[in-house]
Amino acid sequence: MPFPKLSTAPREEQRPVRVLFVCLGNICRSPSAEGVFRHYVTEQGAAEDYEIDSAGLIAVHEGELPDGRMRAHAARRGYTLDSRSRPISYEDFFYYDYIIGMDEQNRERLLALAPTAELQEKVSLLPEWSERPARDHVPDPYYGGAEGFEHVLDLLEAILPDLYRHTHRR
Ligand code: 4NP
Repeated sequence: MPFPKLSTAPREEQRPVRVLFVCLGNICRSPSAEGVFRHYVTEQGAAEDYEIDSAGLIAVHEGELPDGRMRAHAARRGYTLDSRSRPISYEDFFYYDYIIGMDEQNRERLLALAPTAELQEKVSLLPEWSERPARDHVPDPYYGGAEGFEHVLDLLEAILPDLYRHTHRR
């Protein structure tokens, strides 16, 4: 008797959870969120369970590595930020499960760009995932000093484990 044919297509709930972090330029906050979250899920042994990316709301830095200051501060904590800036696309709203902005302006822009009301439901603000009362946004460090970059990393390290607990399927 022949073996029954097994489907190789992953069942929907077995495929990786797709997370897209979004900020304005995609050179400071969202690539850091991508790098810190990837580092964290890998530490949890869950690297295979996630597909993680980041994107920007403006395209002026398209193709660039993250800001040198952001990379240097992240490297001191053991994170390698090597993504390339890209603007968010129409298709991203269909592909990703979670589209996570860093501040209220990001969220408003994401809600305006979402192709349908149903797809708007994928949009959230990163601090909303925090289990502890925290900041209501991740402030843009681009025009400030060193402490702004450290502050971004502090917030990401505090909030992203909570995002993991709420989104991990297994
Ligand atoms: P990000 O920071 O949104 O955290 O990547 C910014 C980077 C660049 C600009 C604004 C914010 N910019 O206007 O070029």
